[in-house]
Amino acid sequence: MPSTPSLTERAAHTLSLNDRGTHSIPSGQLYPHLWAWDSAFAAIGWSHLDLDRAVTELETLMRGQWSDGRVPHIVFSSQVTESYFPDASFWEAEQSSSITQPPVWAIAARRVLERGGSAARIKALLPLIERSHIYFKSARDPLEWGLVSIAHPWESGLDNSPAWDKPLSAIDPQESPPFKRVDQAKVKDPKQRPTDDEYRRYAVLVKAIAKEGFGHGPFRVYCPLMTSLLAWAEKDLAWLCDRLSVNSEAEERSRHLTQGLERLYNANQGFYDYFDITTHTRYSNDVLGAYAPLMLGRDQRGHSHDRLLERLLTEYKSPYGLPTTWPSSDQFDDQRYWRGPVWMNMNWLFSEAVEELGFLKQNSLELVEKSGFFEYFSPLTGEGLGADQFTWTAALTLDWLNG
Ligand code: SER
Repeated sequence: MPSTPSLTERAAHTLSLNDRGTHSIPSGQLYPHLWAWDSAFAAIGWSHLDLDRAVTELETLMRGQWSDGRVPHIVFSSQVTESYFPDASFWEAEQSSSITQPPVWAIAARRVLERGGSAARIKALLPLIERSHIYFKSARDPLEWGLVSIAHPWESGLDNSPAWDKPLSAIDPQESPPFKRVDQAKVKDPKQRPTDDEYRRYAVLVKAIAKEGFGHGPFRVYCPLMTSLLAWAEKDLAWLCDRLSVNSEAEERSRHLTQGLERLYNANQGFYDYFDITTHTRYSNDVLGAYAPLMLGRDQRGHSHDRLLERLLTEYKSPYGLPTTWPSSDQFDDQRYWRGPVWMNMNWLFSEAVEELGFLKQNSLELVEKSGFFEYFSPLTGEGLGADQFTWTAALTLDWLNG
């Protein structure tokens, strides 16, 4: 009798299915091009199978960088025949989208170097990574508060998080040009994807950004998750620069962001707020991103760290890891994309950064063993949702298995 493939073999198989030679696609089912933060997580997975391939993933990712430093969230491959909306022409920006994504590439590069990836090739990437970080300071901090503002819900990576409902309500869906979605037919149930109303607002924003010559556009929200991930990435960039003898001001920028975040701390709630720059309004939303400053360690904050951790451990309980929205909130939906489901990259980021959340590794490995390498999972039942054979789910499983 043939033996059942191990979890490592199955994860490696998923990575090979989505391997396009010099980059990985997130999923053949839904996302046939290169996505920025997906590629960074893929590089972490590749580092356990093929170190050269891992470095190549990061090199391809940085090759898409614009001259102003931004790393676009999608780089379109012209030979791809599978449909995707919005395609390159809708963005009006040549072969890429015009927004960026959570900058986790320095976090990936550090891990690839630590596992033995080519120091010379990684060193050559550092100035590009540095420019991509400086882009956030120059283009995504209009008030100079030491925070990162997003220009589109897609830029946050957490597309339909309830955190964007308020600022998105100011965008008129009637202004949307006509378009045809292709995503809903590709999943088991369209209820697992964002709504049509949200898509119309997303489309309006894409066009507004293009009209403005690819500036910030009308959607401007300071985001605790983006800011925390950049602050973490700056720390890893500083580590890389130190190790490879490259000058950098990453450490200082990281400190500045960590301080900036304190403006958003809400002592009444015990988690971090969002800030809508367009209306100059601060608002609270009990979603996982509001706890992201935990990733920066206890040192700077002490007391708020303990409060964040306590709420997360009591209010965000699920046997499968961290739900992306507070499960008792009326905005919680266990099936719909970023409005509740558990995602492996969130489990990985929180477990890597926060000692007390190390148990998420075990939760996650049991989950993929039970349900497979799905894109996301119901925090209530562990059911796999969205795309099957999803790259970062497999890549981060490999990291956990070999960590
Ligand atoms: N996550 C988006 C999608 O659903 C795009 O970045 O297609």
